[in-house]
Amino acid sequence: MILVTGGAGYIGSHYVDYAHKKGSEIVVLDNLVYGHAEAVKDSATLIRGDMGDPKLLDELFTQYKIEAVIHFAAYAYVGESVKDPAKYYKNNTVCTLAVLDAMLRHNVNNFIFSSSCATYGNPHYIPMDEAHPQDPINPYGETKFFVEKILKAYSRAYGLKYTALRYFNAVGAAPDGHIGESHDPETHLLPLILQTALGKRDSISVFGTDYDTPDGTCIRDYIHILDIAQAHDLAMQRLQSGGESAFYNLGTEKGTSVREAIVACEKVSGKPIKVKEEPRREGDPPRLVASAAKAKSELGWKPAYDDFEEIIRTAWEWETHRRY
Ligand code: UFG
Repeated sequence: MILVTGGAGYIGSHYVDYAHKKGSEIVVLDNLVYGHAEAVKDSATLIRGDMGDPKLLDELFTQYKIEAVIHFAAYAYVGESVKDPAKYYKNNTVCTLAVLDAMLRHNVNNFIFSSSCATYGNPHYIPMDEAHPQDPINPYGETKFFVEKILKAYSRAYGLKYTALRYFNAVGAAPDGHIGESHDPETHLLPLILQTALGKRDSISVFGTDYDTPDGTCIRDYIHILDIAQAHDLAMQRLQSGGESAFYNLGTEKGTSVREAIVACEKVSGKPIKVKEEPRREGDPPRLVASAAKAKSELGWKPAYDDFEEIIRTAWEWETHRRY
């Protein structure tokens, strides 16, 4: 049995669906503040509760034969993390300690952590590999970076085995459209563009058109959610067969600008999308593109989606037939 925290959230639920289809047994712990019970109703046992509650964690580890923990649960609004850092340090870092300490009490050793390219901060070079300096520029990125440091120390001191996966920009949905991205409020670029195409929003705001990039807008590496799910599965297999603790980037190694993303969404949706040019959003690095060579060679990770329009098609399918 695998314990998946935050398994009802966007990235967690796609992993749970992927792993369930491959035969894994999963118990999801999610407080449903941002998660959706519907996203895991067919694929896991859902326990609604707080991951920072040691008593609840003890009950879970006693009741279920948990061999490993995959830890997706976190708040992930960068802007909010600047305005209310306490919420982020407590939830993303302090509550993660509660999960790790429960693992130690119950002799569960394998841990997979949702880290982020936000731990790097502003890029010194592109593509960014795992050795790139880590200097996060907002509290959200710091919380992920703190947990990475905690993992190193826990591994050294207590023998915990971990894999930290640094996602670049997670996008897309399960291709059959039964689960997908649903944030409230939504702040991510792709769903906002597609909702504009659908007429649910008047226009898409482009935050900054004067960056030092070919078309003046920010460049990101948009990686499909199922490729992220696949990497967790491979990381789990590697940990369970005695692999060493490690950090891996997960990205397509291709950069797409905000304007390019809008054009691609117009093509996939067949609808014109109204654009509003706005000032830069605070804390946005101009360019983030991964080197994912390490995940490919050490995990045997083979991303299935490398065509941006194909990735958007899965998100469009979800956006047009949303269930939650
Ligand atoms: N953007 C717009 N208009 C919008 C929304 C976004 O122009 O309405 C731009 C942003 O300025 C950025 C790009 O689109 O340049 C992507 O923005 P997202 O908000 O979709 O995603 P981020 O790049 O901000 O993602 C970051 C980190 C991730 C982290 C995530 C948390 O890169 O590691 O925030 O939600 F997980």
